Amino acid sequence: MIRADVYNLKGTYKMIEIKNLYKSYEQLEVLNDISFNIDKGDIFGIIGQSGAGKSTLLRCLNGLETFQKGEVIVDHQPISSLNKKELSYIQKEMGMIFQNFNLLNRLNVYDNIALPLKFWKQNPKSEENKKRIDELLKLVGLEDKSQAYPRQLSGGQKQRVAIARALVLNPKILLCDEATSALDPQITRDILNLLQKINKELDITIVVVTHQMEVIKQICNKVAFLKDGHVLSVGKPEDLFVGPDKEIQKFIGDDIEILPTTGKNIKLFFTNNNAKSHTITDLARTLNIDFDICQGKLENFRGSMLGSLIINVELADYPAVQQYLNDHQIGWEEIG
Ligand SMILES: Nc1ncnc2c1ncn2[C@@H]1O[C@H](COP(=O)(O)OP(=O)(O)O)[C@@H](O)[C@H]1O
Ligand SMILES: [Mg+2]
Repeated sequence: MIRADVYNLKGTYKMIEIKNLYKSYEQLEVLNDISFNIDKGDIFGIIGQSGAGKSTLLRCLNGLETFQKGEVIVDHQPISSLNKKELSYIQKEMGMIFQNFNLLNRLNVYDNIALPLKFWKQNPKSEENKKRIDELLKLVGLEDKSQAYPRQLSGGQKQRVAIARALVLNPKILLCDEATSALDPQITRDILNLLQKINKELDITIVVVTHQMEVIKQICNKVAFLKDGHVLSVGKPEDLFVGPDKEIQKFIGDDIEILPTTGKNIKLFFTNNNAKSHTITDLARTLNIDFDICQGKLENFRGSMLGSLIINVELADYPAVQQYLNDHQIGWEEIG
């Protein structure tokens, strides 16, 4: 049954609601007043430096970790109000994968994938479950590896087994804790493509915890930026990372090189709203001015090229340039 109030104004379904979440280990505050929602169908990223509280937050979502204040509501059930049995049913709806794969070395691929079925007292060799596991092996591209042991697999293949295992109970949500952090860039891309496929084809909401910008850029439609247990910002990756937030720029290493000391240095932000217009050439043509391009960075966000560019304009041209940028709703800031 679906209640009306779990739909937000756009008609989307709130899969996970985090409300004023607070957690400490004795004196150490690890999560402080965390609030945001994850909608059904999202690939939601949680990014931040090591020690920011990402893994702890993720473990609060599926009840592996308790918290002192606030609430986590999963599929409209408040986690803290559930008894042990109810909690285990909610945990069944949430598969999880990790950086180090957590496979059992003494079991082959098939039996590793089947482990959660055993936990739920199901026969892993029943016709239905055999069919299910064969489908999953196909989905993750390991049809020919069902009898292999973990030591015979590459890192990418091990993570594929872990993904199949996380999906064997048909969850609604997949939680990923640094799932690609131990993999090289090409294998990372393959695993991220697989996660995207799982999100689309199986309609599974995915929460991705990572310290890697590449992961967020490639697959996430939303991201929360975590620092010292606080959420600094939540939004679309392109708005967060292309925007002027200093903390976020520092995190992604978007340092400013040496800039001219005469004229005015202006940083332009190319976001989805304006990325397609011919801003630079149009600016020069419309105002009939010259300027220097000092530094620029364009990046691929799920197929859109977005980024920023620093230009140096002559003092006399500055007011007209400001006017032009505001009129065309192009984000900008003056760099000192
Ligand atoms: N079981 C624990 N006991 C005490 N402190 C912990 C425990 N787990 C994590 N921490 C601390 O909580 C903070 C956040 O850790 P974590 O959630 O693992 O961060 P991240 O995943 O972002 O690297 C760190 O300072 C860490 O040392
Ligand atoms: Mg962690």
